[in-house]
Amino acid sequence: MTTDHEHITVYKGNIVDSPSMEELRTLENGYLVVNGDRVIGTYATLPEEYKGCAITDYGHRIILPGFVDLHFHAPQFANRGLGLDKELLPWLEEYTFPEESKFKDLSYAKEIYPQVVHALWKNGTTRSVIFGSVHKESTEFLLDLFIDAGLGAFVGKVNMDRNCPEFIVEDSDQSLSETLEIIEKYADQSDLVRPILTPRFVPVCSTPLMEKLGAFARDHSVFVQSHISENQGEVDWVKELHPDSLDYASIYHDYGLFGHQPTIMAHCVFNTEKEIELMAKSGVYAAHCPHANYNLASGIMPVRNFLNKGVSVGLGTDVGAGHQVSIPKVMTAAVQASKIKWLESGKTLDPLKLSEVFYMGTKGGGRFFGKVGSFEADYAFDALVVDDRELGTLNLTLKERLERYLYIGDDRHIEKRYVAGKEVPEPKKLPDL
Ligand code: GUN
Ligand code: FE
Repeated sequence: MTTDHEHITVYKGNIVDSPSMEELRTLENGYLVVNGDRVIGTYATLPEEYKGCAITDYGHRIILPGFVDLHFHAPQFANRGLGLDKELLPWLEEYTFPEESKFKDLSYAKEIYPQVVHALWKNGTTRSVIFGSVHKESTEFLLDLFIDAGLGAFVGKVNMDRNCPEFIVEDSDQSLSETLEIIEKYADQSDLVRPILTPRFVPVCSTPLMEKLGAFARDHSVFVQSHISENQGEVDWVKELHPDSLDYASIYHDYGLFGHQPTIMAHCVFNTEKEIELMAKSGVYAAHCPHANYNLASGIMPVRNFLNKGVSVGLGTDVGAGHQVSIPKVMTAAVQASKIKWLESGKTLDPLKLSEVFYMGTKGGGRFFGKVGSFEADYAFDALVVDDRELGTLNLTLKERLERYLYIGDDRHIEKRYVAGKEVPEPKKLPDL
């Protein structure tokens, strides 16, 4: 690594991160040294060699890693808070598919998607993994918006070629060819924004389509995202559709869509022990989405069980089944959900600690992007600067200040966002007239 002083910036402030699930690391009035897009290290006193470098002094403020959202549906943004008295399958039919079908028109994407990118920016989500809709043009527009904004993202055109209404169902060949076109076009456009394969979930993807997507993922090293075992009715339906398969996870696995490349599976509420073991063995990430699981009365993911078995767990807002874009609100919901799970399990599955969900919403999910989500050496400098004075900081430790910010703070306390060493300015929220 070159340490050409011209590219080095020193940030001073109250630094917090979590290098491991067990450790919430705090450093009051410390120094964070960044070389270009990467962290060199954090120090209680500034090493001699950096004394001549530019210093940005954030004073009393907290400097923490940017938030990572592993599961977000951009074309459901305008539906937040609607139709949440339904369970998953009727909610998809009655609210979600009709809304997503509007993205056939690029003009609708131009109205909504800038609001999505702005909301992620506002809430301090510096990296996200996004479902688009089935529509190629709108999905490409969304990729372009993320590139222009300077935020990190994986964005996928959804595949769905069976068991859904005619106004949204795809022709199988077109679904595949348009997906490949997007992946080719965006494979090397940006270090921060990349396409991802996005078969929606087993019930709406034909076997030949899944097979071809899996083969493509393998040949071209494309990452994968999907849903699994969110709702009991969904799990039963999958069994009916694939009576000869061992279980839900094996269907993805058999078609090369389960950890053959880095893969995220959202929800994981009803997985069997065997499936969880397969996830651990295959390195599949679980995206825990407690808001969505409450809203659609799906259930509570037994996160502790996944962690005990060695599965990497990150957090997802799952907008629009989830009603909020804020990852801190998902962190605290995950703690609350785990406490009910603890009771339900006869106090065998220990509740999640706030430090653990903080890890999941930063480095835990960030690992999907590489060295992201922590201030250890060589990690991308993705950071938020938070001014929490109005929350009352007197006599609190830095750890307590972080806890309070996560529970009762919001986007108004975030003063600055950085991604890969660069400050990210506010993106446009409304389309050009
Ligand atoms: N399963 C398949 N599609 C969806 C979706 O859009 N949202 C959620 N929460 N689950 C799904
Ligand atoms: Fe989802």
